[in-house]
Amino acid sequence: MGATWWRQAVVYQVYPRSFADSDGDGLGDIPGVTSRVGYLAELGVDAIWLSPFYPSALADGGYDVDDYRDVAPELGTLTDFDALVGAAHAVGIKIIVDIVPNHTSNRHAWFLEALASAPGSAARNRYVFRDGTGVDGSLPPSDWQSHFGGPAWTRLTDADGNPEQWYLHLFAPEQPDLNWDNREVHEEFLTTLRFWADRGVDGYRVDVAHALAKDLSDPLRSKPETPGELPLDGSDPLFDRNEVHEIYAEWRQVFDSYDPPRTAVAEAFSAPERRALYARPTELGQAFNFDLLKADFDAAEFREVVEFCLAQAAEAGSSSTWVLSNHDVVRHASRYGLPTGTDLDDWLMTDGLGTILDEEQGLRRARAAVLFMLALPGSAYLYQGEELGLQEVADLPAGALQDPIWLRTQHTKKGRDGARVPLPWTEEGATYGFGSGNAWLPQPAAWSRVAVDQQDGVGGSTLELYRDALRIRRELQTDETLDWIDAGRDDVVHLVRPGGWHCVTNFGTEPYALPAGEVRVASAELVDGQLPGESSAWFTA
Ligand code: GLC
Repeated sequence: MGATWWRQAVVYQVYPRSFADSDGDGLGDIPGVTSRVGYLAELGVDAIWLSPFYPSALADGGYDVDDYRDVAPELGTLTDFDALVGAAHAVGIKIIVDIVPNHTSNRHAWFLEALASAPGSAARNRYVFRDGTGVDGSLPPSDWQSHFGGPAWTRLTDADGNPEQWYLHLFAPEQPDLNWDNREVHEEFLTTLRFWADRGVDGYRVDVAHALAKDLSDPLRSKPETPGELPLDGSDPLFDRNEVHEIYAEWRQVFDSYDPPRTAVAEAFSAPERRALYARPTELGQAFNFDLLKADFDAAEFREVVEFCLAQAAEAGSSSTWVLSNHDVVRHASRYGLPTGTDLDDWLMTDGLGTILDEEQGLRRARAAVLFMLALPGSAYLYQGEELGLQEVADLPAGALQDPIWLRTQHTKKGRDGARVPLPWTEEGATYGFGSGNAWLPQPAAWSRVAVDQQDGVGGSTLELYRDALRIRRELQTDETLDWIDAGRDDVVHLVRPGGWHCVTNFGTEPYALPAGEVRVASAELVDGQLPGESSAWFTA
C-alpha cells in the first residue's frame, strides 16, 4: 500500500464536538477521540478525518477558525492532539485534518488587525474589503449572496459608530473570506499544512476548495442568473475558477515533500465535469463527489452514479470517493425512509412530523446501500454514527439549534444540527455514555436502544454489519475495477470485482434468488437463498 493507502481507504469522519466527551463539559473533545481509537480499530477503518477542532467561537460549528495551528482549549491541547496521532498510528489508523482556507473566523488575529487598520491597508488586503455602492455607500458592493442566507457582505462601523467599508463572507458574517490574490495568504496556509504534517498528520480535507480564487475586479461582477449551475469554462466570478488550481499545485509541492506524501481530498462543488481537475495527482489528489448521497435509493440512479464517478476519477488519475452521509446533510437512514422527493428542509421544519418517516425502511435501505458502497472501487467516507444506524434528530427544540442557517434564514430552515447530535455509547446514563455532563445537543430517548453497547457483539446489528463488511472488504480488496453482471431485473444491481468479489443489491421489494457462491455478508437475512427486498449481499464465487 504505502504511498497509495488512500486510494481505497475507509475514512471515518469524526465531528469532534459530538463524538466523545472526556471531561464532562458537554462537548466532545480530542482525548475523547483518543479514548475511542480502540473502537475505531475494531470497526476496521483506515483513517479518521477530524472536522475542525481549532479554537473557534462556533459561529459555524468550528468552520470559523480563530487559529489554524492550535486546538480549541475546550477540546484539548496540542499535546492531546499528538497523543491522538500516536494512538491512532499505533493501531495503523491515519489522521486527516480539515483545512478551511476560504475564510477565517472574525476572531482570527488577521481579521482583528484588519478591523483596527485603515481602508486600503495591508491588513485589510488579506480579506476582501470594499466601499459600498449607492450615493452614501450604504448598498453592498455587489449582489453576491451568502450560502447561509442574506447578503454576502457586512458593513463595518468605525470606533465612533460611523458606517465604514464592507467585507465579503460567502458563509456567515463571522467567516470573512480571505483574499487569495494576496501572496501572504498563500504563505500562511503553506505554513499551516507543514505544521500539521510535521505533527504526523497523514492528509487533509479541504473545505469549500472551489471558492478560493475570485474575480475581484472593480466593479465586481454579478453572479449569473441560475444559481447552482456553474459554467464549464471557469468563468463564474466566485466558484470553480481556473486560477484556483494554481493554489493546489503549490500545496502539492508541500504534500510531496513528505514521505509518504501527504494526501488531500477536495470538497469542491464544481460542475461534476470539472471535479476531476481538483483530483489530479498534481493537485489535491482526490475530490469528494456527493452524487451517491444525492441519489434516490434506485438501481438505475446508483449504477449511473458509479459509472460516471469511476470515469471521472480515472480521467483525473485518482480513485473515486463515495459518501452517503456527513455533518452537512440529513442522515441517510432517515433520507431513505422518506417518500422520494420529500423536501428535507421542510420536513425538518415540521420536527419530522409533516411527512411520515418509515424508520425501518430507512435503516433497511441504509444497510443495503452501505454494502453497495463498500463494494465499489475507491475510498468510502463514513460519518460517525452511521455504523449504529442512527436516524436524523428532526425534533431538536428551536432553543437548542446552533447552526447559523437557522439564524440567517430567519428561522425558516433548521439547518444541520440534527445530524450532529452527540453519539450514544451506552444504554444507561444521562448522555448515553457520551460524557458525564449534559450533551451540547439533546439526544433522543430512542438512542438508548441503539447505543454501541447494545449492538456490540449482537448478530444482525448494524454495528456488527459494518464490522463484518469492513473486515471482509479488507480481505477481498482488489484492483480498482468492476464489471456489471446482468441480474435479469431492472431493480437489482449485480457487480463483481476482480478475484470474484460479488455484490448484489436488490432495490426492489420482491426477493431475488442469488447466483451460486459463498455468501460472506448480507444486510438482511436470506430466506431460502433469496435476497429480500431492499438489501444487499456479498458473495464469493
Ligand atoms: C463546508 C463544511 C460546512 C461549512 C462550510 C463553510 O461545506 O462542510 O460544514 O459550513 O464549508 O466552512
